[in-house]
Amino acid sequence: MHIFGPLSSRWTAYLGLLSALSAAFAPAVAVKEHDFKKCHQSGFCARNRAFADHALASDTWQSPYNILPESGSFKDGQYQAVILKTINDGGETVRLPITVSFLESGTARVTVDEEKRQKGEIELRHDSKARKERYNEAEQWVIVGGTTLDKAAKVDYEDKTQLTVKYGPSSKFEATIKFSPFSIDFKRDGNTQIKLNDRGLLNIEHWRPKIEKPEPEKKEGESTEENKAEETKVEEPKGEDESTWWEETFGGNTDTKPRGPESVALDISFVGYEHVYGIPSHASSLSLKQTRGGDGNYQEPYRMYNADVFEYILDSPMTLYGSIPFMQAHRRDSSVGVFWLNAAETWVDITKGKDSKNPLALGAKSKTSTHTHWISESGLLDVFVFLGPTPKDLTAKYGELTGTTAMPQEFALGYHQCRWNYVSDEDVRDVDRKMDKFKMPYDVIWLDIEYTDEKKYFTWDKHSFTDPIGTGKQLESHGRKLVTIIDPHIKNVDNYPVVAELKSKDLAVKNKEGSIFEGWCWPGSSHWIDAFSPAAREWWASLFKYDAFKGTMENTWIWNDMNEPSVFNGPETTMPKDNLHYGNWEHRDVHNLNGMTFQNATYHALVSRKPGELRRPFVLTRAFFAGSQRVGAMWTGDNQAAWDHLQASIPMVLSQGIAGFPFAGADVGGFFGNPEKELLTRWYQAGAFYPFFRGHAHIDARRREPYLAGEPYSTIIAAALRLRYSLLPSWYTAFRHAHLEGTPIIKPMFYTHPSEEAGFAIDDQFFVGNTGLLAKPVTEKEKFTVDIWIPDSEVYYDYFTYDVIPTAKGKTVTVDAPMEKIPLLMRGGHIFARRDIPRRSSALMKWDDYTLVVTIPRDGKRAEGDLYVDDGDSYDYQRGQYIHRRFVFDGAGKSLASVDADGREPGSVQEGEWMQKVRSVGVGKIVVVGAPTAWAGKKTVKVESEGKVWEAKLEFTPAAQGRAAFAVVKKVGARIGADWKVDFS
Ligand SMILES: *[C@@H]1O[C@H](CO)[C@@H](O)[C@H](O)[C@H]1NC(C)=O
Repeated sequence: MHIFGPLSSRWTAYLGLLSALSAAFAPAVAVKEHDFKKCHQSGFCARNRAFADHALASDTWQSPYNILPESGSFKDGQYQAVILKTINDGGETVRLPITVSFLESGTARVTVDEEKRQKGEIELRHDSKARKERYNEAEQWVIVGGTTLDKAAKVDYEDKTQLTVKYGPSSKFEATIKFSPFSIDFKRDGNTQIKLNDRGLLNIEHWRPKIEKPEPEKKEGESTEENKAEETKVEEPKGEDESTWWEETFGGNTDTKPRGPESVALDISFVGYEHVYGIPSHASSLSLKQTRGGDGNYQEPYRMYNADVFEYILDSPMTLYGSIPFMQAHRRDSSVGVFWLNAAETWVDITKGKDSKNPLALGAKSKTSTHTHWISESGLLDVFVFLGPTPKDLTAKYGELTGTTAMPQEFALGYHQCRWNYVSDEDVRDVDRKMDKFKMPYDVIWLDIEYTDEKKYFTWDKHSFTDPIGTGKQLESHGRKLVTIIDPHIKNVDNYPVVAELKSKDLAVKNKEGSIFEGWCWPGSSHWIDAFSPAAREWWASLFKYDAFKGTMENTWIWNDMNEPSVFNGPETTMPKDNLHYGNWEHRDVHNLNGMTFQNATYHALVSRKPGELRRPFVLTRAFFAGSQRVGAMWTGDNQAAWDHLQASIPMVLSQGIAGFPFAGADVGGFFGNPEKELLTRWYQAGAFYPFFRGHAHIDARRREPYLAGEPYSTIIAAALRLRYSLLPSWYTAFRHAHLEGTPIIKPMFYTHPSEEAGFAIDDQFFVGNTGLLAKPVTEKEKFTVDIWIPDSEVYYDYFTYDVIPTAKGKTVTVDAPMEKIPLLMRGGHIFARRDIPRRSSALMKWDDYTLVVTIPRDGKRAEGDLYVDDGDSYDYQRGQYIHRRFVFDGAGKSLASVDADGREPGSVQEGEWMQKVRSVGVGKIVVVGAPTAWAGKKTVKVESEGKVWEAKLEFTPAAQGRAAFAVVKKVGARIGADWKVDFS
């Protein structure tokens, strides 16, 4: 949540703090764009853009970075050398060690450091205690695997000017490192895919001492920052803008920059690629736009600097709450990508252009290439290069490096009911009862900050939350959970043991002088836990023990908000960049990691809440970075109750998925404002297809629990909730795949159909896992049809009516979407699992039988699908305590069979408690959509399983008026965990 909504009690307190400004705020103002930097207001971004302008405008530009050939050596899959950067006309150079690593996974990594800083041979200004090195610990937090060097990589060609290394699967990949100027071409199958420094925009701002100049004469009344900058500029040699090298002021906050200018920037070209995706989070399209002006393009680069951007604007490259600097480029039948491992403020410019010199432009037509320019404020230059060739390869290799989505608690895929705030125990219990009364399933109710005693986390409001355990037990009686918010700012008051310990144990983030940093957030004056510190994480864990955080129990889980971190009185609502973290790293270096380390600290705290209690934690985060997927879910922050925010949520959630963090959702209903009923209803219908499905509302928004909507809306919303619940087995299976393979949960068209160019920019429809379910939520007011683009020549059925959709590959089909309907198609050739008995929560469905839906493909030959089930709670699945079935319908053999998807022999796993209990769960019914006419008149089928054979009833309904024929096998009777076969012959 955030502050700048309509006036609220907390907000009023904050207004007191800023009383001088308060008159300027109108209630419910949209994001004040000018509170956040544009590139020209961010010194290093402006300098690098100017550098690019200069380089690209000049015919004679030569990048001043050259590999010193005799410094190079290649050994065990790694090339090491020194790049010399020429820094003046006198030929003076700076040494920049470079390592190019070729990894067994086929990924290449290019790392450039700066020798002087590496060796600490620099002087910091202002007696700073900050570290002298470029930040080199990002990988410690981010990279979890896939870094084994490829010993089989070998130098294929070498001379005085360049070196070519062959690497990757069957040595299909190739990197040509050119020495002068330095550049690298990455090829796959002999064709260039990615080029580094091809346009000569590599820029590593080397250390230099500050040369004190005489103060420029100040004229009367000309003391503003702008004037100062102007005056300095005039003095610059070669036009280089030095004005922000040593100090930078924005919004009244001055950054002292003790290490001077230190940015790293590089151009990365995707040769022949027209589309690039990724680098969330932005309220933008899935296929990223150009950023240097022109029709329909942005003027600003995409920015990644985690920030509390209240009421963000749409269709914008401005930064939001989290950052993942992973980009995929895609053209027909080929995906490649890069991961820019840097946690400092980062900007990415994107331009596209035809390149007739493009070696890939075989034939007459030249292809469009995408040129990107990556700019980070500090740290190493560290970039991973992926050569695909499929989108699946990209997400898999990226997942290997940064980890995949944690296997979630099963309940976490249910519906979450949140608002700021449920104000008392009784309020929570009442909502819980009403959801039941209106037969609306839900799993989790949430408590925002008001449950605390005056914003002191780990406490409860003494008047309104007197019996949280009683509340927790009421929830538990229907298998439900409570999520409470715990933020990283710790109230700075007397008689609060948490803050007292934070201070006495010295576990908080420090200011530039090295004393405890104090800033403002919800509680007023606050300190921030420094989750980079192992001791701080250990202490944090101690606070979550059941006997420490009294009032919590086994069904209490946690929400981490404001972890960008949000600091109300800080620059851009966050921490000063010269603050110091554990190890004396500046906040500047680790800013984008901050949210992840905090969420991770909470995750580990929950793992160790009670000795022996090994359960998967649920932690929602607002801020995130590459790797956050390993420890929980995210949501897209403080959106608005407006149709265009509903629209924007879909590409945003899709972007999360292709950037490796698919457990994502947007606040259903919109956080700020009051959604009209139609919007609220449509949002529930869309939200039922977010991997993370939570309704939430601002404190000043009217109550909008779904049962309050009134008819017909409440009934329609209940149906959307039930649809979600009936498909939970398929959602959970999709999470299993995300967990093992790094795949998205909801998949955009380019991902599932990488050969169909017309689908590459489509970002308002998606497939759910491998189910073949194609959803296109309605996101417009009074819109009662949608146009769905059909990516292939397979048959598509309406999910609800079994109508055969009149389709053709590459055509758009208009589908009816009256208020009560979610446009949802089933692609032929799939099998997916459901549970059809509506219940109050996912936990209560645990022992229900499954329904399998088989969608017969156009050619009638083969349908396939899978189902993954485990106890939904513990880590026992890691010891084989799970069921993973593969279902195959064989049209020729007229049979449907279930086999172990992982090839495990029956009886090969020692069955624990859950495995034994799940023996009672069976296949209830099988629905075959598009059933062959030959089945008409058939009354029974033969079922064979575990050495027995029996008959089950078959009901066949012939095709009629556009509806496909379908058949239902009732009371199948086979165990879900066993091998079985149904014979339809
Ligand atoms: C998460 O916490 C664990 C336990 O304290 C620690 O070992 C690990 O480095 C942390 N990782 C991140 C990303 O913060």
